[in-house]
Amino acid sequence: FEGMTIVELAKRTGKPMSSLQDILINVGEKVDSEFDPVSIDIAELVAMEVGVNVRRLHSNEGSEVLPRPAVITVMGHVDHGKTSLLDALRQTSVAAKEAGGITQHLGAFVVNMPSGSSITFLDTPGHAAFSAMRARGAAVTDIVVLVVAADDGVMPQTLEAMAHAKAAKVPIVVAINKCDKPAADPERVRIQLGSEGLPLEEMGGDVQVVEVSAISKVGLDKLEEALLLQAEMMDLKARVDGPAQAYVVEARLDRGRGPLATAIVKAGTLVCGKYVVVGAEWGRIRAIRDTTGKLTEMAKPAMPVEIEGLRGLPMAGDDIIVVDSEERARMLSAGRKKKLEKDRLKKIDEGRIEIPDASE
Ligand code: GTP
Ligand code: MG
Repeated sequence: FEGMTIVELAKRTGKPMSSLQDILINVGEKVDSEFDPVSIDIAELVAMEVGVNVRRLHSNEGSEVLPRPAVITVMGHVDHGKTSLLDALRQTSVAAKEAGGITQHLGAFVVNMPSGSSITFLDTPGHAAFSAMRARGAAVTDIVVLVVAADDGVMPQTLEAMAHAKAAKVPIVVAINKCDKPAADPERVRIQLGSEGLPLEEMGGDVQVVEVSAISKVGLDKLEEALLLQAEMMDLKARVDGPAQAYVVEARLDRGRGPLATAIVKAGTLVCGKYVVVGAEWGRIRAIRDTTGKLTEMAKPAMPVEIEGLRGLPMAGDDIIVVDSEERARMLSAGRKKKLEKDRLKKIDEGRIEIPDASE
């Protein structure tokens, strides 16, 4: 699918053809007949211009679809051991290096399983303040690992994470952590989760539960097994060839390198040197690094990478699309910014209340 005709665009946006034609001419498109094709980028620009919200649907028709690694997000209450558990899975120590031991961002990395398959993991913060980050984490993932400390039990952000996973229709695998502690009571955690409506396997449901300890490294192989089993049941696949669609997991500004975005490819292959539109920003990919910081030429589905070369700072959750030229990238980015500003002003306007002036 490569765009549509002007007639079709008019039908989909519900706007008269004449007004669309004027906009098309303004963005520099030649229009001879209403049956002329317009590209998907131009279609989006025109739709935004007439105030219609756009969502791109990508089809995999005609391209080969291959198995891809699972993207798994670790969620749970603050200090229940999410980062430690990931550290144990990949045998490094991020948790010890964090400020105050509290995660304040979304970490992404790949763990190569002994079985030979790899899994992409996203770490999320458990602190109450980072709810939006957890919601995004749940939205981009295939599976949620719900970490519950065996001595602390189900807590507010445990429930919140459950709700995010449910809203995103993402299956949960429960890891009851800190089972090494004398005060650990995994049975109590099971009962709590069950009474919160989580259908645990041992109670006839389909949610797997694994008891682990990140510190004494117990149960890690069982957890990996459970995750691979869950992933296998989901039969995860993606188109590998062709232009990439990806999404931003996290973005930050580096003093020397400019805006950096951690991204995960959804489909296709992300290649160095391409023009991209990222949310309302644009850029040309100057460098791609894997999660160990090594430069790489390209990124395939489910691979987390850091991209450099964006002109502005995108937002977590933004989509990344590849476009043909710098001009296209600039135009789309400008169009999206204008639309965002319009929506923002509209919101302010709607929220405005009238206060009688007492001095009158
Ligand atoms: P946030 O990212 O801030 O939500 O925390 P977190 O869930 O990532 O917890 P983190 O891994 O930082 O661990 C919190 C504390 O629990 C640290 O002091 C860890 O050493 C300790 N901890 C984590 N896992 C275990 C475990 O299995 N057993 C014991 N005894 N302590 C653990
Ligand atoms: Mg953490």
